[in-house]
Amino acid sequence: MTDQEISELARKLTLEEKAGLCSGAGTWTLKSVERLGIPQITVTDGPHGLRLQKEAEGLTVPAVCFPPGCASACSFDVDLLEEIGAAIAAHCREENVGVLLGPAVNIKRSPLGGRNFEYYSEDPLLAGEMAAAFIKGVQKNGVGTSVKHFLANNQETRRMSVSAEVDERTLREIYMPAFEIAVKKARPWTVMSAYNKINGKYVGDHRGYLTDVLRGEWGFDGVVVSDWGAVNNRVTNLEAGLDLEMPYSGGERDAQIAEAVRSGRLDEAVPDRAVARILKLIFRCTKAPEKPPLDLEASHALARRAAAESAVLLKNEGGVLPLKEGKKAAFIGKYAKEPRFQGGGSSHINPYKVSSALACAPEGVVFAPGYDDKKDETDEKLIHEAEEAARNAEVAVVFAGLPEWKESEGFDRKDMRLPECQNELIRRVARANPRVVVVLHNGSPVEMPWIDDVAAVLEMNLGGEAVGEACVDLLYGRVSPCGKLAESFPKRLEDTPSYLNFPGERDKVRYAEGVFVGYRYYATKKMDVLFPFGHGLSYTTFEYSNLRLGAEKITDKDELTVSVDVTNTGKMSGKEIVQIYVAPPEDGEAIRPARELRAFAKVALNPGETKTVTFTLGKRAFAYYHESMRDWFVESGTYTVIAARSSIDTALSAPVYVESTAREKIHYTADTPYCDVRRDPRAVEIVSHYMREMDRLEAVFSPEAFEMLISYMPLRGVLNMNGYKAKDLEELLSKLSALE
Ligand code: BGC
Repeated sequence: MTDQEISELARKLTLEEKAGLCSGAGTWTLKSVERLGIPQITVTDGPHGLRLQKEAEGLTVPAVCFPPGCASACSFDVDLLEEIGAAIAAHCREENVGVLLGPAVNIKRSPLGGRNFEYYSEDPLLAGEMAAAFIKGVQKNGVGTSVKHFLANNQETRRMSVSAEVDERTLREIYMPAFEIAVKKARPWTVMSAYNKINGKYVGDHRGYLTDVLRGEWGFDGVVVSDWGAVNNRVTNLEAGLDLEMPYSGGERDAQIAEAVRSGRLDEAVPDRAVARILKLIFRCTKAPEKPPLDLEASHALARRAAAESAVLLKNEGGVLPLKEGKKAAFIGKYAKEPRFQGGGSSHINPYKVSSALACAPEGVVFAPGYDDKKDETDEKLIHEAEEAARNAEVAVVFAGLPEWKESEGFDRKDMRLPECQNELIRRVARANPRVVVVLHNGSPVEMPWIDDVAAVLEMNLGGEAVGEACVDLLYGRVSPCGKLAESFPKRLEDTPSYLNFPGERDKVRYAEGVFVGYRYYATKKMDVLFPFGHGLSYTTFEYSNLRLGAEKITDKDELTVSVDVTNTGKMSGKEIVQIYVAPPEDGEAIRPARELRAFAKVALNPGETKTVTFTLGKRAFAYYHESMRDWFVESGTYTVIAARSSIDTALSAPVYVESTAREKIHYTADTPYCDVRRDPRAVEIVSHYMREMDRLEAVFSPEAFEMLISYMPLRGVLNMNGYKAKDLEELLSKLSALE
């Protein structure tokens, strides 16, 4: 339907009908207007599978549960995410679902975030690219998406009322870009506004974010929908740009909209605008392209491939992995038989079929449950059995992980520990058999107090319903591990950048670490972590060579091509995730992370094969957000482009000089120190005429001290020292203001 047709249709609606369209008809439906042929559409949760509740039925429709965001992001594979999106869309179409409520792209500010299993990463570029690919996959099949939860919704504690106290630069650099990339690259049909406040104001009331940034700066043209129950004031939220309230408000808040229009408090153009967007959405959903075929078996196979692509081999000493099929293995731990493969809460899928590693294991593998995950109590009988099984096997594989009571939507974790009974089990098994492999099923990082006692660790994350098959494929080397960590694994909770400010104090949480989230913090502080962001091993080996930059010197308006050759130097086919980081100039003025991920690619290589991977870096790769300029700014200087295997493992690096074409705006006042004057040669020239007596000072200071003295001297001091009066200062400032 064209915009013209939509506005004609909207004109036929009464004020009550318009206000009504601005909220749901039920928990999962929008309102219809039969007399005008406006149909009802259904929205439903995802994001890693269809979660469709049929009225009056307890369970949701059985659907393939793909690996949640915590896992799929470790694939660093945009094509895979698009395929998953397409497969879920096929199921949505089958069930007449118009909008899938995902992807969830919030940044993992703390490893304790209860919903981290659903989110992609601590890095905004990775989260944004994963989201954009997923959205493309869903929407090209005629189903809408809802990028959530916009904005700064990074914890579960008091999630519906807490105020994220966060500065603009941090929002722009860390918490917004995943949404920005998703909106600009994939044009989602809806964006879901979050429950929380930002700097004391509910997101729903932030016109600046919901309208000016989202629509004005990023070009979003869809519907802003509230998170379920997030509306705090229907009228002010609507004015700020929150178009659709979900779920049904019982009619009360629809009436408030109509009443506000009637009383003249609200311009009717405001609900009109929201209605036009909602109608556009409804007709987008109902005029969908040809229905894609639904094949649950094929989807399950895709979930298996996705789980394998997303698993991360953290450690592999002495080549303990891959296992050899003829050798006697003991699978220990409840999760070998009943894997934990998804998180709890609104994303919980009723799986089509779940595979366990034990069921898929080669013949002869013995099993011991080791622990009961319903409670954290060491059961000596279970441990003895496990020790016995380990002693009689050539290799012991312990399946450990976080139970649902430790990790779910609705609450944050209290610690980063596995249940102690599982730690104890791993230690004891490692004493019984030196060849121990730990397989982890968790949606967020855990401490590993036993790391030095075990030979290998395979992080399966929450791997979706096919995690068991994928795990066996990897353990037995049918597939080489090729995922890398989408978040840092710190050694201990106390090391995390948000440690002192998570989950905050009462109704406020200060994002005091600023832009130093995840590896940006650890890399800058040169801190040891258990496993760094971007880390992941393979059964083969890769060599990097020939890093080439398109130029040695560019301006911030140019693009820089970066290419690097990667060779598979091992004996098995495999995939490498090449990461490109940029480090800022060493003498830069801005306080910036030591390096930031600016591009990545996953390459498949046969043994002996070399491929050239090419990237293009634009202005944003070098820029930071300059608060007073209210814009992205590139400081002139020498940047380092790093081709890396992980956030700390540099393979190759090369310098590039980037020249700024934007002049940093300086507002000159009596307090402006001379070092700021120095940024603009024209200003230096003007001020030099007022420095007639500086030689006197120069004579009594060492050159270094004189340099500092003058650098930090404000203009009023400079004039004072040189015998000028207040009126001269005024004259100087007026000359300088002409430069601003
Ligand atoms: C969650 C959303 C979800 C919605 C509907 C909310 O509580 O935060 O992510 O889409 O419920 O289930």
